[in-house]
Amino acid sequence: MSNLRQNGQLRWAPSFLRNRGKVTRAQKRAMRDWWPEYGIRFEFDEVIDLDSYYDFDGPLLIEIGFGMGDHLTHLAESLPDHRILGIEVHRPGLAAATLKAHQSGLENVRLIRGDARLVLTDHLPQAIASAILIQFPDPWPKAGDEHRRLVQPEMVETMAKTLLPGGQCLITTDVDEYADHCRAVFAGARGWRESKHSDLQAYRMETLYESKAKSAGSFVTDLCYQTD
Ligand SMILES: C[S@@+](CC[C@H](N)C(=O)[O-])C[C@H]1O[C@@H](n2cnc3c(N)ncnc32)[C@H](O)[C@@H]1O
Repeated sequence: MSNLRQNGQLRWAPSFLRNRGKVTRAQKRAMRDWWPEYGIRFEFDEVIDLDSYYDFDGPLLIEIGFGMGDHLTHLAESLPDHRILGIEVHRPGLAAATLKAHQSGLENVRLIRGDARLVLTDHLPQAIASAILIQFPDPWPKAGDEHRRLVQPEMVETMAKTLLPGGQCLITTDVDEYADHCRAVFAGARGWRESKHSDLQAYRMETLYESKAKSAGSFVTDLCYQTD
């Protein structure tokens, strides 16, 4: 059972593309053997007690839409005293991140499969995270598809509730129009201010997605917002 629907209607239009890639054999094995260690499962009416999944109490960083998990695992390796939580809908990505976390012996990473909008709204407690990172959200560039973008006024309000006071939301995009879209959404939201810089940007690594975007001539924009 899932709370993705209300009164038979989807609560959010899908912000992700369906059927993206296949799970390899090694990834299938990783899901069988290592998902129980890294994955967090939850019931439809459950608010997840994150403390029961981490062995220590460090600042919590949430990466939404981590793709194949390269940036997520890099962050976890670079910041071993931080708890890193990845949320992704894409099964091959979850499997790849599970495998990478296991191969690197990471103990500070946990993963959730699901729509981040649902996870943040219904399944995570409020005021828990130091930062939320969104690297290259699906841009939905076509006219009429804007409502599918992950960054929306409702999501920005939800993220503000998930963050601690002074918490940061870092968004990186290779689509100028998406950067402008984010600027407009945050400008219209209460309780946020734009920051010029975040210390976390030092831990950002270039994923395959980013290098392809740069090779195609795209300009990459880093945006950083902070809650009051
Ligand atoms: C363009 S890819 C970028 C992947 C990765 N961040 C990178 O830089 O390589 C966008 C990712 O966001 C994920 N995504 C989109 N909407 C999501 C949502 N509502 N909840 C969780 N993940 C989502 C997609 O499945 C996809 O993996």
